[in-house]
Amino acid sequence: MPVIILGIESSCDDTAAAVVQDGILLSNIVANQEVHRKYGGVVPELASRAHQQNIVPVVDQALKMAGIKSEDLSAVAFTRGPGLLGSLLVGSSFAKGLALAREIPLVEVNHLQAHILVHFLKQPDRDISIPAFPFLCLLVSGGHTQLMIVRDYLDMEIIGKTIDDAAGEAFDKSAKVMGLPYPGGPLVDRYAREGNADAYAFTKPLIKDLDYSFSGLKTAFLYFIRDRLKEDKDFIEQNRNDLCASLQKTIVEILTDKLEKAFLQTSINRVALAGGVSANSGLHERIKWLAQNHGWEVFIPEISLSTDNAAMIAITGYFKFLAGKFAGLHISPLARLPI
Ligand code: KG4
Ligand code: ZN
Repeated sequence: MPVIILGIESSCDDTAAAVVQDGILLSNIVANQEVHRKYGGVVPELASRAHQQNIVPVVDQALKMAGIKSEDLSAVAFTRGPGLLGSLLVGSSFAKGLALAREIPLVEVNHLQAHILVHFLKQPDRDISIPAFPFLCLLVSGGHTQLMIVRDYLDMEIIGKTIDDAAGEAFDKSAKVMGLPYPGGPLVDRYAREGNADAYAFTKPLIKDLDYSFSGLKTAFLYFIRDRLKEDKDFIEQNRNDLCASLQKTIVEILTDKLEKAFLQTSINRVALAGGVSANSGLHERIKWLAQNHGWEVFIPEISLSTDNAAMIAITGYFKFLAGKFAGLHISPLARLPI
């Protein structure tokens, strides 16, 4: 009997569903919520409402695309947290209802663990290189920045984390200062390609061990722009590419300095990226350069699997299903949920 898992993701502003059969991706549907753009960030109340509207059509589409009927499912996996509570409630309630109606097991998934386990997702039409254990993983998203040692599918240790903002927030908030729409990370990346990364210098924080901090950079960037605008009201427009390139270079160096330190401390030379910021082209370049210098084997998920998606929830659900780790129907989502 094949193991067929439906994954449901609703932790922030993407409503997503995916089907994985025996570890192979059959479908992966994401409905982005455009409604937040004009507010310059995610509005929790609006996100919950949009999830409520999207969840049934998104799940229907995922099943149809996979050629799977709901009665064929072995289990339903959902994001329990971390995330926005109102958003999580929509996905978890739907998953519980489906599990109850179909009399199939329910599997709760940690969103952060799922970002990492997406590296083990197989595709029907191509070979994917999969990291051997143990490996280092830099998890960089809009809400999280963590360095981990991944010892097994469900055995991970956090060895460094941000003490304030996440790397994605540093991108998004600085982009907002430049008048760019939310989420600004991909736009900064795009403008940075045309800019000079050495045009401006921003100081990097001195944080102990393998931890990170981004709030100082965010504030320094804000004050820098504010002061320049006093002298020249067109400063941003005329220097956007250089500003983006210099900001991106600083964020990437902060991220990779600690990754390099983690490698030197642990001697683990398999390095994976995960989370939305792992789509950043400056980060790719720097990681590839470090890989050549240190002999790293590098694993970078494709963009559709690095930003929020349900394929990562389904594959994590698959490993938990195999391990017999099921959830009871009394389970409730948690805004904060450590790995
Ligand atoms: O993992 P994700 O989709 O959602 C969270 O769990 O937070 O990550 C979203 C974050 C946003 O901050 C977005 O600006 C950032 O990932 N991001 C990027 C790029 N693509 C997405 N940041 C920099 N460069 C990119 N190319
Ligand atoms: Zn995420």
